[in-house]
Amino acid sequence: MDNKKQYPKSRLGWLWENMEGKHALFIVALIGTAVYNMLQLVVPHFSGKIVDLFRQAQDSKESLTANSDEFYRLIILMVGLTLLRVTIVYLDCMAYERVSQATLFRIRNFLYNKIQRQDMKFYSTYRTGDLMTRVTGDLDAVRHNIAWVIRCIVESLTLFLSAAIYFFTINVKLALCVVSLAPLIFLIVFRFRKQVAPMHKALREKLAGMNTDAQENISGNRVVKAFAREEYEKEHFDKTNRDYRDTNIKTQKVWLKFFPFVEAIANALPVILLLVGGVFIIRGDITMGDYVSFSLLIWAIANPMRMMGNIMNEFQRFSAASDKIMEIYYSEAEIVDHPDAIAHPERFEGRVEFDHVSFRYEDGKLPVLKDISFTAEPGETVAIIGETGCGKTSLIQMIPRFYEPNSGSVRVDGVPVENYKLTDLRKNIGLATQDVLLYSDTIEGNIAYGAMTLTAEEVEKYARYSAASDFIRSMPEGYETIVGERGVGLSGGQKQRISLARALAIKPSILILDDTTSAVDMETEKQIQHSLRNLDFPCTKIIIAQRISTTKFCDKILVLKDGKIIESGNHRELVEANGYYAELVKLQLGESVVSA
Ligand code: GTP
Ligand code: MG
Repeated sequence: MDNKKQYPKSRLGWLWENMEGKHALFIVALIGTAVYNMLQLVVPHFSGKIVDLFRQAQDSKESLTANSDEFYRLIILMVGLTLLRVTIVYLDCMAYERVSQATLFRIRNFLYNKIQRQDMKFYSTYRTGDLMTRVTGDLDAVRHNIAWVIRCIVESLTLFLSAAIYFFTINVKLALCVVSLAPLIFLIVFRFRKQVAPMHKALREKLAGMNTDAQENISGNRVVKAFAREEYEKEHFDKTNRDYRDTNIKTQKVWLKFFPFVEAIANALPVILLLVGGVFIIRGDITMGDYVSFSLLIWAIANPMRMMGNIMNEFQRFSAASDKIMEIYYSEAEIVDHPDAIAHPERFEGRVEFDHVSFRYEDGKLPVLKDISFTAEPGETVAIIGETGCGKTSLIQMIPRFYEPNSGSVRVDGVPVENYKLTDLRKNIGLATQDVLLYSDTIEGNIAYGAMTLTAEEVEKYARYSAASDFIRSMPEGYETIVGERGVGLSGGQKQRISLARALAIKPSILILDDTTSAVDMETEKQIQHSLRNLDFPCTKIIIAQRISTTKFCDKILVLKDGKIIESGNHRELVEANGYYAELVKLQLGESVVSA
């Protein structure tokens, strides 16, 4: 369980801030709640008055007849005020709904933007299911808090206080007897709060865990089926589900422990009233009418006491949920625009320089890149080759500033990347990542993802560049074919080619391909190589590759081993150097080709 973090605002302060634009309405709603609850006193008060009126003389009928005007006036007042109360309640409900929905809308948008702007570290920390829980279930707890919990607190407080004050104005001693039990209830509810708070935290964690399981299994359904793990996953989910249910029951049971005491106190109130009130009437301290008002209003003291447990329970649920939301709300991406970052709306020339770059993942122990230095001149093609895990992907992630070096500097066109605005930098970089992610959209939509204004002809041109146009055209709906979530329905090589077309479509000054042709056949790869050499816009290419056929025609080849550049040069130079690269050439092409 995470420790309590410090945020710039308290939970309620945060909520208030997010009610922006609805502050006045919310205050009106709160006042409305207070007013309609005070109006609840009207009926008992007037009933008391009527009883006294009725009993003024010896003959009740006579006294009522004599004061019939007063009687009707009181009745009309009672009806009128009750109608007023109902109207206020109605408007009040609408006001709370408006405020809570507006607040929710604001927070939801803010969170989504925040999540979008996060850096890679954030995404490797938070699981999707957990994030989804925060923007759905947790946010609903926040809405519930505005629309129900806060309202209930005001309601209970007003009822209790106005009833108590009313009691005191009628008879101090009797009021004291009734109200004196309240501190006892506070004590009980305070203890309850201490016990139930951690339960709500646990509940919240379990819900997020369950959602994460569900989300991972649904999106990973192919793996589940391939390994025939359905039964296992079903049982696993069943266990998580059961665990969540049991924690829910346990949480409810906490209240059950306290409930009998609260209920006993609340139920004792009428008995006390009956006893003490009776004695007071006998002694002539209060009138019969006062007694009626008292007994008709005793619920206004008892109900808030009963409600306190429930309110506390819901408030703890809100606390646990809002902590989770505020964690994201106040999280700051580490990689953001520097305050003095320069705008660079023009196209980059495309010079990429690594100057003694070293890097270690924050959660990793060992350095992944060690003292990397190289330059890719505008228009050059640089290949990076090396065994798996040697740091190739980590290296190229420094260029769009997904991560920042621990030492050394990465420069584009001679300017350190951190001096550019992120959007300017990234707009100039076309990246085809190692794990291809396509959206559930048409193929055309996927290719034009970074360049929305692309015409159909242009989309087709980039598809041709990436040797994808043939297979796209052969699909029944061509470019209009919808690819499923994450590109389900396409082969690995097809996905890679669409992702290449997507990267090319923005006409980047720097094109980065991370193993983008690993799943396509040799012939298709050749075609792609050819079109990459003949692009109709200037572009520096940094290509991570495993095949010599790819690296052969590159201007520069960097051989990476354990995060270090061990060899660099063009194909011929490296073959002549007779080192690691030359070994690779022998392995892949056979001895005979080496000398060619
Ligand atoms: P292949 O793609 O398999 O060819 O490997 P690569 O050369 O692209 O390796 P990469 O740069 O992805 O990883 C280099 C090293 O960094 C490996 O030892 C990984 O275990 C480690 N690594 C990669 N990503 C992360 C990360 O997000 N966090 C941490 N702590 N380590 C990482
Ligand atoms: Mg990689």
